[in-house]
Amino acid sequence: MELLVETAGESHGAALTAIVAGIPAGSPVAEAYINARLKARQGGAGASSRQKTERDEVLFGAGVRDGKATGNPIALQILNRDKTYEHLPPVHTPRPGHADLAGAMNRGLTDARDIVERSSARETAARVAAGAIAAQFLEALGIHVLGHTVSVGGVDLHAEAGVDLEAARARRDASDLHALGSPDGHTEALARIAAAKKAGDTLGGIVEVVATGVPVGLGGHERPETKLSTGLAAALMGVQAVKGTEIGLGFRCTGLKGSELHDTILPGEGRPARGGNNAGGIEGGMSNGEAIVLRAAMKPLATLREALPSVDLRTGEAAPARIERSDVTAVPRLAIVAESVVAIELARHVRRRFGGAHLDEVLAAIAHHRARVRETLGTRGH
Ligand SMILES: Cc1cc2nc3c(=O)[nH]c(=O)nc-3n(C[C@H](O)[C@H](O)[C@H](O)COP(=O)(O)O)c2cc1C
Repeated sequence: MELLVETAGESHGAALTAIVAGIPAGSPVAEAYINARLKARQGGAGASSRQKTERDEVLFGAGVRDGKATGNPIALQILNRDKTYEHLPPVHTPRPGHADLAGAMNRGLTDARDIVERSSARETAARVAAGAIAAQFLEALGIHVLGHTVSVGGVDLHAEAGVDLEAARARRDASDLHALGSPDGHTEALARIAAAKKAGDTLGGIVEVVATGVPVGLGGHERPETKLSTGLAAALMGVQAVKGTEIGLGFRCTGLKGSELHDTILPGEGRPARGGNNAGGIEGGMSNGEAIVLRAAMKPLATLREALPSVDLRTGEAAPARIERSDVTAVPRLAIVAESVVAIELARHVRRRFGGAHLDEVLAAIAHHRARVRETLGTRGH
């Protein structure tokens, strides 16, 4: 069974739409759960006034009955309050760092308005809603996914999420920066955001996504396409303004010796135990039973108060870039988006690996797989 997620919608169009096909019958789909995630996506320090204009709430069009997936494709919408698309001016002066120029050349246009509208991160509202449906399916299987901010504007905000991701989620949601780190870090990062705002500048940063309870052996080593790592990296790189991803120690592992880096394999109960988790829960493109740990780097946002140099696409003459409403930083919001796209990708791999038309069948297939691993590998050395 393949999980399909498709979104449609423009920043100032009537609505954002998502189709989520392949969620098994019986999987919980609570409106309140999705709306809480949508609210979290709109929150956080550094957000623009657009987030105060919109009141994102999900409307179901298909595939849900009595708070559960029916097994039919799920259709959902989030209505835009600011739906001025038809009345917005053309964009003849593309903004550096945005899709405007490349998109105009891609379509052979001198007006980038349609590109601006679709490339906008407003689209992530639809993916967060779809991700919240995937996350509820995963939670029913004992798999939890949490995104949190680990740095903004160079200020370190990292703290371990620990094993109880739901407790960490409460701490994350209480933080303006969606971070788990120290109050001192928060104070410094908030001051840096305020200073950037005053200067008309923008800040980037890093988010981390942790997933626990993932069954061993998700993905496959056989081909690049079967690897869990390939799908997760693509999911994160597909988010607007993400410029790098890491699995486990990622780029940081290059400074270590092999003997320091690799997680030893030790005798254990149920399956061999591991001496650490520098690999971030994935080896050979497959989940190894440890927590999956991923990071995504976000660039400082491209729209600045002082427009960057550009050209008028109609004349080719120099002209300042058009300015659209913009955030100072979207790193705290990325934490929620990253969590959502990782949930979608993990759910996709669970569906591929374990199949099943009803949630109960998926649960039984995972239990069977766990028993098989225990029987074949669990008793050795004891
Ligand atoms: C949650 C979120 C909010 C964003 N808000 C803004 C913003 O307010 N201003 C801006 O210039 N870019 C913003 N971006 C990033 C742009 O959408 C993105 O940089 C642009 O579409 C070009 O794509 P690229 O950076 O992936 O090349 C945001 C991204 C995310 C994930």
